[in-house]
Amino acid sequence: MSAESPVTKRLDGKVALITGGASGLGEITARVFLKHGAKVVIADVQDELGHFLCQELGTEYITYVHCDVTCESDVEKAVELAVSKHGKLDIMFNNAGIMGHLEARVTETSTENFKRVFDVNVLGAFLGAKHAARVMVPAKKGCILFTSSLASKICYGNSHAYKSSKHAVAGLTKSLAVELGEHGIRVNCISPHAIFTPMFQKTLGLSDKKKGEEMIAVSAVLKETLLEPEDFANAALYLVSDEAKYVSGVNLPVDGGYSLSNQSWKMGLSILSE
Ligand SMILES: NC(=O)c1ccc[n+]([C@@H]2O[C@H](COP(=O)([O-])OP(=O)(O)OC[C@H]3O[C@@H](n4cnc5c(N)ncnc54)[C@H](O)[C@@H]3O)[C@@H](O)[C@H]2O)c1
Repeated sequence: MSAESPVTKRLDGKVALITGGASGLGEITARVFLKHGAKVVIADVQDELGHFLCQELGTEYITYVHCDVTCESDVEKAVELAVSKHGKLDIMFNNAGIMGHLEARVTETSTENFKRVFDVNVLGAFLGAKHAARVMVPAKKGCILFTSSLASKICYGNSHAYKSSKHAVAGLTKSLAVELGEHGIRVNCISPHAIFTPMFQKTLGLSDKKKGEEMIAVSAVLKETLLEPEDFANAALYLVSDEAKYVSGVNLPVDGGYSLSNQSWKMGLSILSE
């Protein structure tokens, strides 16, 4: 789209709360929601980054609030802030997440790490949904979105805490979609493949963006393009917009077909030609 093209505001007048909104996929989603007319509250533990983003965007339509998603009173206050500032809450995007340790073996997985990953990724998501629902149920409308992961669909045998936490998020999505549908509330999640964000860099100890993107591209099913943070944000935009008004209970893959593939079958077949 050229700089001159007017943007169709697909979230005009809506109020969104995004956890993990100070960095990575949450940050880009905040920018996209804002561009589409939403009033956005970003909730995170990285206060400096959160305030910096608000300053950079320089509009009263974006606010930062300190919120550790594992702390129920923080989550409750973040929801209250969105409602007191903007009068309602239309969109609750539970996006905050951590990878935890990259243990290869279950015998090496620390119990402490497992609990921490579940606290942030699952309990944090649950608390966001719980407090958003308290506001959305009486309003008889609203949209709850979670960030799950490709890890909720396929595994390659490591990081068990992360993988199982993202399965739990997908399960929570289904369960809440069934309960909250009665109140006109839609619940969905997004499962992206790897995207070069601070989490990705930290997990692989990789600062070279080009190298990281190359690594992702080599294993991709969909070639001639690259999964970028904006692709994730655009999927989120669709799911929270009125265009998706009858879409609920979905775990939307944003992975270029990766979760459908079974590359290891090729390895098995290759021994036949030896
Ligand atoms: N980047 C990827 O490759 C990828 C792939 C699949 C899924 N995801 C998921 O996307 C989401 C966003 O990840 P990202 O890649 O943007 O990483 P990121 O680290 O850049 O962003 C995550 C944000 O969550 C915040 N956060 C962490 N713990 C928190 C807590 N207790 N309370 C509040 N905020 C907290 C962090 O401060 C950070 O701003 C995560 O749920 C992640 O699991 C990422």
